[in-house]
Amino acid sequence: MRRDLCQSKDRAIVFNYFDFTTYSNYQSMFLIAKNLNKFRTFISKSLNRVLIGFAIIFLLFIGNPSLAIAQTDATQLAKAVAEIENLDAMRSGLASTLKDSTTEPTVQTFKEVCQPVGMRAMQLSKENGWQVKQIAKKYRNPAHKPDNLPAQMALAKFDRDSELMGFWDRETIAGESGTRYYRRINVESSCLACHGDKNSRPQFIKDKYPQDLAYNFKIGDLRGMYSVFIPDVQAALLNSHTGES
Ligand code: HEC
Repeated sequence: MRRDLCQSKDRAIVFNYFDFTTYSNYQSMFLIAKNLNKFRTFISKSLNRVLIGFAIIFLLFIGNPSLAIAQTDATQLAKAVAEIENLDAMRSGLASTLKDSTTEPTVQTFKEVCQPVGMRAMQLSKENGWQVKQIAKKYRNPAHKPDNLPAQMALAKFDRDSELMGFWDRETIAGESGTRYYRRINVESSCLACHGDKNSRPQFIKDKYPQDLAYNFKIGDLRGMYSVFIPDVQAALLNSHTGES
């Protein structure tokens, strides 16, 4: 118990330190995210996603190059950002086909929205040596509850600032140091079939997730976040294989 407390405290200090050093990154990220919002009405959703991806990569590396290079593997982080944009687009795509479908959704179609996202996250972890997770305060699957103090603080940060799309942080998980990338997940209209009103959730969800907390959301609410932990050792190994440094 005591050791746990000490560990959390250490992590909090580490987190606060990087919070401070990357503050200018966040500041510029807010600005870009706000500008992106203004253009939202003019551009298509998919283009918007690409822009968000680029804005995040831009801010991570160009916004503060010395910091990014000193602490973090740029290639791996850029790859993680791109993979998470794909993953998020996959969920939105699946949810919107369900919403637009004229036939009554079956249990099978209902199962085919967020489960494949979880499976793809596991696959990404295996392929890259990362830890890819979905994390939410109001979770449906208990495997998705916040796993440590920095994750709780990241959720709180997204909660406080609805314009913040993503950021990265230096963390040590199970004794391994690395970079952790966080990306927000918002509720869209197509999500409400399963994450809206408590009583109108599909029966399979009521049956399969008796402890479900992931309902009563409104459009635009923070649903949770993706988290990608890239251990430093893994980043170095992968780059030595691909010949990059
Ligand atoms: C067809 C029903 C359905 C729809 C539509 C749906 N979800 Fe889910 N969602 C689920 C189920 C079921 C789970 C639990 C999956 C698991 O066990 O890993 C889940 C889990 C999640 C999780 C992981 C965290 C948690 O609570 O376990 C997130 C994040 C999430 N959904 C976001 C969304 C978003 C964003 C949308 C809309 C774009 C959406 N969902 C649409 C059924 C749905």
